[in-house]
Amino acid sequence: MARLYREHLSVGRSVLGTVLGGMLETAADGAWIFTDDGRRYLDFGGYGVFILGHRHPAVTAAVHRQLDKHPLASRVFLEPVAARAAQALAARTPYGLDHVHFVNSGAEATETGLKLARAHGHTALVSTAGGYHGKTLGALSATANPKYQLPFRPLLPDSTVVPYGDADAMAPVLARLGDRACVIVEPVQGEGGVRVPPPGYLAEVGRLCRTYGAFLIVDEIQTGLGRLGTWWGMDGERVSPDVLLVGKGLSGGVVPVAAAVATAAAYRPFSRDPYLHTSTFAASPIACAAALAAVETLDREDIVGRAAALGDRLLADVRAVCAPYAGGLVREVRGRGLLIGLEFTADQAVGELILELVARGVLVNHSLNATRVLRLTPPAIAGEEEVRLFLAALAEALRVVAARVGPAPE
Ligand SMILES: Cc1ncc(COP(=O)(O)O)c(C=O)c1O
Repeated sequence: MARLYREHLSVGRSVLGTVLGGMLETAADGAWIFTDDGRRYLDFGGYGVFILGHRHPAVTAAVHRQLDKHPLASRVFLEPVAARAAQALAARTPYGLDHVHFVNSGAEATETGLKLARAHGHTALVSTAGGYHGKTLGALSATANPKYQLPFRPLLPDSTVVPYGDADAMAPVLARLGDRACVIVEPVQGEGGVRVPPPGYLAEVGRLCRTYGAFLIVDEIQTGLGRLGTWWGMDGERVSPDVLLVGKGLSGGVVPVAAAVATAAAYRPFSRDPYLHTSTFAASPIACAAALAAVETLDREDIVGRAAALGDRLLADVRAVCAPYAGGLVREVRGRGLLIGLEFTADQAVGELILELVARGVLVNHSLNATRVLRLTPPAIAGEEEVRLFLAALAEALRVVAARVGPAPE
């Protein structure tokens, strides 16, 4: 299989797979992934997709029903599942965010937000250092990581990067750009290394956008749908974006789907001309069946409350496990809900820990925009046995890696 990867997918990907042991994941259920060699791995990674775990029964049942009836639509007639999924999502988004544009990936949701902003004349992009919004050309212009941007430059012109979590630093930029500005920001930076801004940051960004007439996109692709122990990362922040981006967990862990949810005013260009921004597979009945089942399941099973409780407990326990290495290998453990970051002092620590955890049957994430941060995005359905297994594996993996790597020289 590594050879097929090498010959037809990616040489680099085949090397990485081989380093991890060369096993093939062939099945998944709940918090677990199963490999072809008969082993199972606890999935505390999954890039924030699996808040409901893998193949949640309610989502798979809805998708099966849709598959047997009408998976892809003509796009000519009206189609009920997209309408119901949009209604269900809009019912759970903050006040005024009622117009849903379904797409197939987070990056496409970002593109949708950026295009809506442009259609209203907000052509000057303002993003934050460490922010991650996807890798299509528009989204990449807001993903301020030179590693991903450099090979593809020039990107969108008129783009400014400001420090994250610092509204005072954004103020003069918005004062200069005025109503040309389009700000895109995450409530907590996921790929940026689980960076939690000071309380009130988003509210202040929202206030600045109103003051200077800027368009505001809040990217909740990673933080939304319960990941932070609240429906939305911006809950409690008194901010009213023009567009909210949703993805990852919207899939229910079953079918890729994401969305941009806009106010009526922001959405007007797409309401007026439904062909202005389209994609053949967007809002397919099969994806919308997954999205509808996912948001209903989040409510029915109080996934948000469970994410909050499990998140508090995990953060405390992970801190306790890391405590012996504080001031040495471990710089900080931080997070909100079920998005938890472990920041290390040595560059190689994350890679080494991932390998040691895999050897102990646990999968976790690295962070695309923060090489020293190991990221945990466990499912809210994880049970006591799974949490204990994870903490034991983490304790052992840390002991091995700390002995091998040691603290970084300051
Ligand atoms: C906050 C945020 N925005 C956008 C994206 C891009 O989503 P996708 O990888 O589905 O294109 C991600 C993916 O990690 C993300 O975390």
